[in-house]
Amino acid sequence: MIGNNLKRLHVITWGCQMNVYDSGRMADVLAPLGYAPAAEPDGADMVILNTCHIRDKAAEKVFSELGRLRRLKEATGGRMILAVAGCVAQAEGAEILARAPYVDIVLGPQTYHRLPEMVARASRAGNTVIETDFPPEDKFDHLPESATPQGVTAFLTIQEGCDKFCSFCVVPYTRGAEQSRPVAAILREAGHLVSQGAREITLLGQNVNAWHGGGNGGLGRLLRDLAEIPGLLRLRYATSHPRDMDDALVAAHRDIPMLMPFLHLPVQSGSDRILAAMNRRHTADDYRRIVDRLREARPDLALSSDFIVGHPGETVSDFEATLSLIREIGFAQAYSFKYSPRPGTPAAGAAAQVPEAEKDRRLQVLQALLREQQTRFNAGCVGLDMPVLFTGPGRHPGQIAGRSPFLQPVHVTGTPHLIGHETMVRIVDTRPNSLAGTLVQERRIA
Ligand code: 5AD
Ligand code: SF4
Repeated sequence: MIGNNLKRLHVITWGCQMNVYDSGRMADVLAPLGYAPAAEPDGADMVILNTCHIRDKAAEKVFSELGRLRRLKEATGGRMILAVAGCVAQAEGAEILARAPYVDIVLGPQTYHRLPEMVARASRAGNTVIETDFPPEDKFDHLPESATPQGVTAFLTIQEGCDKFCSFCVVPYTRGAEQSRPVAAILREAGHLVSQGAREITLLGQNVNAWHGGGNGGLGRLLRDLAEIPGLLRLRYATSHPRDMDDALVAAHRDIPMLMPFLHLPVQSGSDRILAAMNRRHTADDYRRIVDRLREARPDLALSSDFIVGHPGETVSDFEATLSLIREIGFAQAYSFKYSPRPGTPAAGAAAQVPEAEKDRRLQVLQALLREQQTRFNAGCVGLDMPVLFTGPGRHPGQIAGRSPFLQPVHVTGTPHLIGHETMVRIVDTRPNSLAGTLVQERRIA
């Protein structure tokens, strides 16, 4: 690359892990044009705001951030290219350009492989570019391999979009129909990530367990293939739908030791009435049975979930059914949200909206219970020896940090030569969101 062609790119990422992955891939696609990552937006040649539309006042948040970026753009004499990407761009692209005409590029999640061409068009004075169609070509076929060294843990998108149409969710509209990437492309990208230093790969998809390889089986089979990659130590996948938890995938949890014993399996509610209103197409008992099968396959499996309180029509007894389900299952960790009406989704127009104050109250009760379970789970780890994959330096000098099999951050006193390796650690203490441990032996397991 020619030195004086070097340009600075700053990417701001909101939302889910898939957005984190997408931001990385947008940086990869711009690297051949001379764009190198910049830690700050000030003075950057290009800033991408990668947005999330899942909850809350997504659009307002975007406009207030754009107001800040506008001032930074003016400070560059208007030279900075400002792009808005992600799900808010997809859903509200035209409004963004109308209300923030200083934005140069608006692009949806399915078009970021076309960024170089969009940048060229936007660079011609006065041009704005909007690309929010779902293009016929597959963006993954047009993306370069990542040139940046990987961290010890990496994400890999294998599936995108959703056909489930839960009543509350914008994803089927912003990310489009379910699409699975081909096995060969996934294995190639995984091999490349490992060659760049990744030791743990998390497979991503809005409905990752709906992934299918044509005639070549589903996610269970894919995990078996990935487990063969030399140098790869750990596999995870997120986010799953209970309905797509098939026998082969359950068996994968039994048969593949490197598939970590921690699963994020959103249930949203414990009330059959609300699950039906949400169009989840399973009951609370279905969920219990799936968890039983998984725990039979992998007895040490820890679970995480998503919950929504105050979906339209949710009564106090529906809410209590959710609390009961939580008490029965026991979660190691969970995310919970107040229902937030999303424009264009079926639930947004429902008459029986739950008052905001009641949603607040239910969320507090639910979160107290989930917090108590998380604390209990973490406390139960004290005194155990577990393999920790070290990912980087710790908070304090002389410390290194890693992840337990259950995705808990673990801090130990140790030297950086362990980073990128798995080592046995005795857990000695818990903090609210992490564990402290000591090295059982200096020796690496892998
Ligand atoms: N309101 C509140 N929470 C939502 N989620 C998705 N849509 C909404 C909404 N409209 C939550 C679900 C989902 C997670 C990613 O976000 O729990 O699993
Ligand atoms: Fe949204 Fe439901 Fe699809 Fe998940 S399964 S992305 S919650 S519509």
